Amino acid sequence: MEMKLSPCHSLKGDLEVSADKSISHRALIFSALAQGEGSVHNCLEAQDTRSTCNCLRQLGVDIKAEQGRLVVRGNGWQGLQEPEKVLDCGNSGTTMRLLTGLLAGRPFLSILSGDDSLRRRPMRRIIEPLERMGAKISARHNGLAPLAVNGAPLRGIQYQLPVSSAQLKTALLLAGLQAQGPTLLLEPEPSRDHSERMLAVMGADLQAESGKITLKPGRTLQPQEFKVPGDISSAAFFIVAASIVPGSELLIRNVGVNPTRCGVIEVLKSMGADITLENRRVIGGEPVADLLVRSAPLQAAVVEGALVPRLVDEIPVLAVAMAVAEGESRVEGAAELRVKESDRLAVICSELNKMGACIEEMPQGLIIKGRPGGLKGNRVASYGDHRIAMSLAIAALVAKGDTSISQAEAVDISFPQFWTLLSNLTDGCERA
Ligand code: S3P
Repeated sequence: MEMKLSPCHSLKGDLEVSADKSISHRALIFSALAQGEGSVHNCLEAQDTRSTCNCLRQLGVDIKAEQGRLVVRGNGWQGLQEPEKVLDCGNSGTTMRLLTGLLAGRPFLSILSGDDSLRRRPMRRIIEPLERMGAKISARHNGLAPLAVNGAPLRGIQYQLPVSSAQLKTALLLAGLQAQGPTLLLEPEPSRDHSERMLAVMGADLQAESGKITLKPGRTLQPQEFKVPGDISSAAFFIVAASIVPGSELLIRNVGVNPTRCGVIEVLKSMGADITLENRRVIGGEPVADLLVRSAPLQAAVVEGALVPRLVDEIPVLAVAMAVAEGESRVEGAAELRVKESDRLAVICSELNKMGACIEEMPQGLIIKGRPGGLKGNRVASYGDHRIAMSLAIAALVAKGDTSISQAEAVDISFPQFWTLLSNLTDGCERA
């Protein structure tokens, strides 16, 4: 599907974005391992979380939609059964990596695969440490999926993660929960800590301080009533939109503002954005707020080091903000973007430059020469990457002339209501 967008004058109103993808995956998977009935309120309904639900069902987990929530009847580790068919993780790296950690210690064979994008993404990063724990995993050349996991007894390890990745960390925690002996994980820089928070609430023996996690196995996980807040990674598109479209004022309600995810707000504020966090509260162990965003002139910023894992999914839309800010911005130490749903460094650069941006691609980042008012509409490609499609849509709002975006249906991966919400606010996008 191709989506056509026209520039818009101002964005006004309030909205709620889709539920947090990371928290939804974890709530489903951890509930499946608990003993008894748990539920997930406001679970993200999108392709990625559907992949997780379908895989869990194939493993014998009972998941039903009841009164606006998903009820998960877990029967502990023993409740999981050998899947008859290949577990299809679709486009979801989180599904594949977390389930591989979970299945590494189960006494049966599982095969995990996914779409063209997922079968290109690096899995060696999980295979190596899981093998050190005793797992038996076969992959294609270069550690690519499909993966065949032959469940085996696991032992805890001490492991320095080579990359700050919450998916890798969580895969190892899921293996560690079923291992003999403790697991100690050290991250280069702290990544999102939803797993640590949720497992601690469920009764796991887990200690976490920035970048260092100790897990002792043996405790039965207790089911919970999880409530999932809105996804800051989805809110980010509207935060940037309201910041760069002159005359805008948007209230984005019920957004998760976990400090390990808030890098995007910090960077935009440092660029001059007018963002206020209102009505701060804690829901299910996660900080939540309503975000009031008013347009403001933006200046350049530098994103590097410990900030990168705290905004890793928001770099495409931050690049849009930087492309229309005053001055030269830089993104460094972000090579991880090359192994996301697309090579996001290459794609941001090629597609935003087609719209008149001035971005130079570096091996590990971007140099963006800001051109306030300098974007122009064009035909651009999302490469089937949800966050690229949505970032290009935000760029189109401030471009001169019309923009059309290919494979616009990619938003269904994480934010199926995106086009409807955007067109309600702008009256400016339509299927081409
Ligand atoms: C996620 C972690 C991040 C992020 C992804 C979701 C998670 O990936 O990019 O969209 O839910 O753990 P990495 O852990 O590979 O950096």
